[in-house]
Amino acid sequence: MDEQDLRERVNAKIFPHPLNAWYAAGWDWEVNRKQILARTIAGRPMAFYRTEAGRPVALADACWHRLAPLSMGTLVGAEEIQCPYHGLRYNASGRCTRLPAQETLNPSASVPSFPIVERYRYVWVWPGDPTLADPSTIPDMHQLDDPEWAGDGLTIEAACNYQLILDNLMDLTHEEFVHGSSLGQDELSQSEFSTRLESDNHVSVTRWMIDVKPPAFWAKNMRDLDPDFDGRVDRWQIIHYYAPSTICIDVGVAPTGTGAPEGDRSKGVNGYVMNTITPDTERTSHYFWAFMRNYRLDSQKITTELRNGVRGVFGEDEAMLKAQQRAIDANPDYAFYSLNIDAGGIWVRRILDRMLQAEGRLGDSSPTVPSDARALTDAARDPNGPVADAGERSAR
Ligand code: FES
Ligand SMILES: [Fe+2]
Repeated sequence: MDEQDLRERVNAKIFPHPLNAWYAAGWDWEVNRKQILARTIAGRPMAFYRTEAGRPVALADACWHRLAPLSMGTLVGAEEIQCPYHGLRYNASGRCTRLPAQETLNPSASVPSFPIVERYRYVWVWPGDPTLADPSTIPDMHQLDDPEWAGDGLTIEAACNYQLILDNLMDLTHEEFVHGSSLGQDELSQSEFSTRLESDNHVSVTRWMIDVKPPAFWAKNMRDLDPDFDGRVDRWQIIHYYAPSTICIDVGVAPTGTGAPEGDRSKGVNGYVMNTITPDTERTSHYFWAFMRNYRLDSQKITTELRNGVRGVFGEDEAMLKAQQRAIDANPDYAFYSLNIDAGGIWVRRILDRMLQAEGRLGDSSPTVPSDARALTDAARDPNGPVADAGERSAR
């Protein structure tokens, strides 16, 4: 493959999304029998509900007859959904079971049904080729329903392409600037980090900050564990990306000198920031997140405080991502450039590029070709560009 083509593609600003993948369609409680859920997953409008037996169902949200949205319809019997317009009924596999105005069922009368699995407090759906849907490839988010972890989360309807959220989570040096009052500290961009390709679809980015003053968010969490704590800490951030769009971040602090970098975290506080991002349209995304912790599991007060605290932090990201998407759209001729800090994000883009290639869908969104003066200047300064540099590495 031409290295220049690859470089241009992985620096694309708006990324198409793979279809042959599991995406979180919603929290388990959002899919129920009271209200049919209408949600677009990877560009495909779907209607979600449960059968009487509790099994989740995902059907295309357009009736076979005249394409009225089934999500405006009603549930009937054990598993059927009735179109709101002329009353056609479908079973959970999408096959039409009743045509009110005629007796013979047209054999082609059906709507697509999508593979669906409930796991880790989410309902996951596969918008692509159903013969490839293997539930063992659902990303590992076990902390969400593991009794050793407690916590909760929310959904952000983000006004940006899903790839911008992945970039945001793969490089946490932005905390210093975007989350200065809660998580930010100078050491974020001054400390070393390493990026590893763990497997075909798993990338990790590890950063340790040794003997630092904990920022406000972590000082509070340490005091939840030990009200008298007022010392320095070793802080870690270990980012795990699972293709196509799940990022679980192992985060925490422990009092300096208690052995956390060597593996003993018992004196510290450990959290997992669980993020899974589902493309909606090209410029909007469903962003499901939760913050899980492994200490003081029974405290609902701490769960609520953490959820509210992280909601505030992620609100800062949401505003930045929306503004970034607007600027991208307003400046179509300007290119993206990558820095050392983008090493993890570049791996993500390479993996997505490979998935899209396998689906034959690389042409879905045109890559950005540097065409302005700024691009040419930077290209001249850095002839090898960022892609060639994106392997396992340490920065500073
Ligand atoms: S559009 Fe659904 S029954 Fe006519
Ligand atoms: Fe952030």
